[in-house]
Amino acid sequence: MEKNKLTVLDIIKMKAQGRKISLLTAYDYPMACLLDEAGIDIVLVGDSLGNVILGQDSTISVTMDEMIHHTKAVKNGIKKALLVADMPFMSYNVSIEQTIINAGKFLKQAGADAVKMEGANPAVLKMVKAVVDAGIPVMGHIGLTPQTAGALGGFKVQGKDAKAAKQILENALALEKAGCFSIVFECIPDALSALITKRISVPTLGIGAGPYCDGQVLVIHDMLGLTQGFTPKFVKKYADLAGIIKKAIGEFIQEVNSKQFPDKQHSFTIKPEELNDL
Ligand code: KIV
Repeated sequence: MEKNKLTVLDIIKMKAQGRKISLLTAYDYPMACLLDEAGIDIVLVGDSLGNVILGQDSTISVTMDEMIHHTKAVKNGIKKALLVADMPFMSYNVSIEQTIINAGKFLKQAGADAVKMEGANPAVLKMVKAVVDAGIPVMGHIGLTPQTAGALGGFKVQGKDAKAAKQILENALALEKAGCFSIVFECIPDALSALITKRISVPTLGIGAGPYCDGQVLVIHDMLGLTQGFTPKFVKKYADLAGIIKKAIGEFIQEVNSKQFPDKQHSFTIKPEELNDL
């Protein structure tokens, strides 16, 4: 293990020390290198892979093989950050045995430090506990859970009335009890995440959950301005990489068409006598 490599204990300690935790997604080696070099605390290989990399309209069809493949690539770029991998839909729902085997693959085959599982109903809680008991750190994920968004009425803010908010609080307490080392809150009111963040001992990581969580998460393609089309309200674009990339591609096309590229500087030479011999 690298000397400065972060562990789940370091992440838990950050909450106690009042230090904010930063988390961004990655799906490949070059982005993982950049995130790690920039000093991110946690890199998540999210099953948002389905949307942002594979061009699918949901995360439902993402497979274990795809997640393992991308997690391996990300692992190769990480020296310091904690590496968490999302368990895809139906990889932790069939049986305890299958769930532990799948979670174990992320650590043994792909080099992840922990896995993330969505939801907190009794069936999921049983799986979370079994995986934790098997020695695999688990990050929980509640509020809007994209794998089951259909059952939640679509991609909507969750916990807007007292009954729904109480359920989210109970879910957080149950995940803490089941042994999660941290919990993602997705799309819930800021005052609710503030209340829960005070009530539980493990770090809360918000995405569309306001400023009071212990840390913040975003999908890397959203915050870099690489995602085209609809942008959720909670996304802040820190760059317009799509614009930069399109401009560069446009210049390349123009220079190829006008025979400006490649010039001498980007070409190789051969001695005239060698050419004559040929
Ligand atoms: O899949 C993902 O990228 C996620 C984050 C949005 C938390 O679950």
